[in-house]
Amino acid sequence: MIHILLIVCSLFTFSANAAVQDFCVADLKGPDTPAGYTCKPAAKVTVDDFVSTGLRFAGNTSNIIKAAVTPAFAEQLPGVNGLGISIARLDLSPGGVVPMHTHPSGSELLLVTQGFITAGFISSANTVYVKTLKKGDLMVFPEGLLHFQVNAGGVTAVAFASFSSATPGLQILDFALFANDLPSKLVEATTFLDDATVKKLKAVLGGTG
Ligand SMILES: *[C@@H]1O[C@H](CO)[C@@H](O)[C@H](O)[C@H]1NC(C)=O
Repeated sequence: MIHILLIVCSLFTFSANAAVQDFCVADLKGPDTPAGYTCKPAAKVTVDDFVSTGLRFAGNTSNIIKAAVTPAFAEQLPGVNGLGISIARLDLSPGGVVPMHTHPSGSELLLVTQGFITAGFISSANTVYVKTLKKGDLMVFPEGLLHFQVNAGGVTAVAFASFSSATPGLQILDFALFANDLPSKLVEATTFLDDATVKKLKAVLGGTG
């Protein structure tokens, strides 16, 4: 009798486990909500939803910051949707910089795989935490805090940044201030910078007004 009960119980556990939803591959045609994308029907999911080959290749660093970030977020790697993880590749040419920025929705773990990177973040108490990292070194940037990465050697640096979110988001401070149409008067009032400096930075970064 006890044996039969155990068998019934384990069968029940088995079927309950089988009913668990293993994944929620992003349906990129559906809405991108704060809780992530809606799920692609399981019958349409393939292994390629869980694989990204895009990080094999160096990004194009021929730009003003001499840096390239190649993301594997939910949009590029639909299988991470709902799992609270993602990753990106960072290429930094000599002189390259990832300007001060935040990821509103995720903490970051940066692993340097080539070259040297000076990285740092600033806490909400305005304490600075900065260090020069070399191949194999890691640094963590807590969610939401301003941080940056600068090439610290004469060679191209490569790093991989993993995030505690499938959609960590990215806001770059300089672009927020100088790459849009926020009127110069308001930029000056809120930053204490002078008009000439604000106009110069708007010109460099593509802002207007
Ligand atoms: C890299 O970007 C620059 C500037 O946009 C462009 O001129 C160049 O062709 C790109 N190089 C490659 C290899 O795509």
